[in-house]
Amino acid sequence: MFSILVVNPKGGAGKTTIATNLAGYLAGKRQRVVIKDMDRQRSAARWLARRPRGFPEIRGALPDTDPKIVADYAPQWLIIDAPAGVHDKALAELVRDADAVIVPVATSVFDFEATSDFLAELATLKPVKDGKRAIAVIGSRVDSRTVAASDLDAFLEPLSIDVVTHVRDSQLYVHAARDGLTIFDQPRSRAHEAWEDWPPLLEWLQSVVIPRSSR
Ligand SMILES: Nc1ncnc2c1ncn2[C@@H]1O[C@H](COP(=O)(O)OP(=O)(O)OP(=O)(O)O)[C@@H](O)[C@H]1O
Ligand SMILES: [Mg+2]
Repeated sequence: MFSILVVNPKGGAGKTTIATNLAGYLAGKRQRVVIKDMDRQRSAARWLARRPRGFPEIRGALPDTDPKIVADYAPQWLIIDAPAGVHDKALAELVRDADAVIVPVATSVFDFEATSDFLAELATLKPVKDGKRAIAVIGSRVDSRTVAASDLDAFLEPLSIDVVTHVRDSQLYVHAARDGLTIFDQPRSRAHEAWEDWPPLLEWLQSVVIPRSSR
């Protein structure tokens, strides 16, 4: 099992949107996926409860779900949707238990400032310092080839962090969330442009999973 923590203490950064869509993408590739909702708002768990029958199966877990139930399903992927405001010991524990970390960043100056502090905190954690956690930053609700995307790149440049992809601002995400779906559950004719934002993230994921599984 490979576990991916989706985290940014800034509220509304796009964590649940990225976590649910990544879960949907992997499930669509016939992978066994569990999405673990660590947020008291239960956005991911409620999304899963709305998921209609007939779409690729995704199982859910909550912080108090018996680990044996998850283990019995033998998921290939565990996606952890972190709450806003996670810092200090709670953050250290989440990062300790994950194989990889995805940090969605929205493109306001408030998001940049909060995320900058967060990335600095992340860098102090032992598994990160030891180079044992792959970290991907992704632009959230931003079209590549826009000023906002360049602003994000410029903000991250001094930190020597690349943006793996930009996930565009699209009502497809909003509608999919409402219906318990992902953009990958929607017809190609409607969603193909939004799909284009995802291959770089999936390639990054492959690049970090392969070295780990050959360890
Ligand atoms: N790419 C996108 N296009 C359009 N709307 C988006 C996109 N990503 C997120 N949103 C919307 O922005 C809002 C915040 O997104 P989301 O809930 O995923 O963030 P979050 O980081 O999980 O928030 P919280 O910190 O409250 O858990 C939601 O209304 C969501 O539907
Ligand atoms: Mg959320």
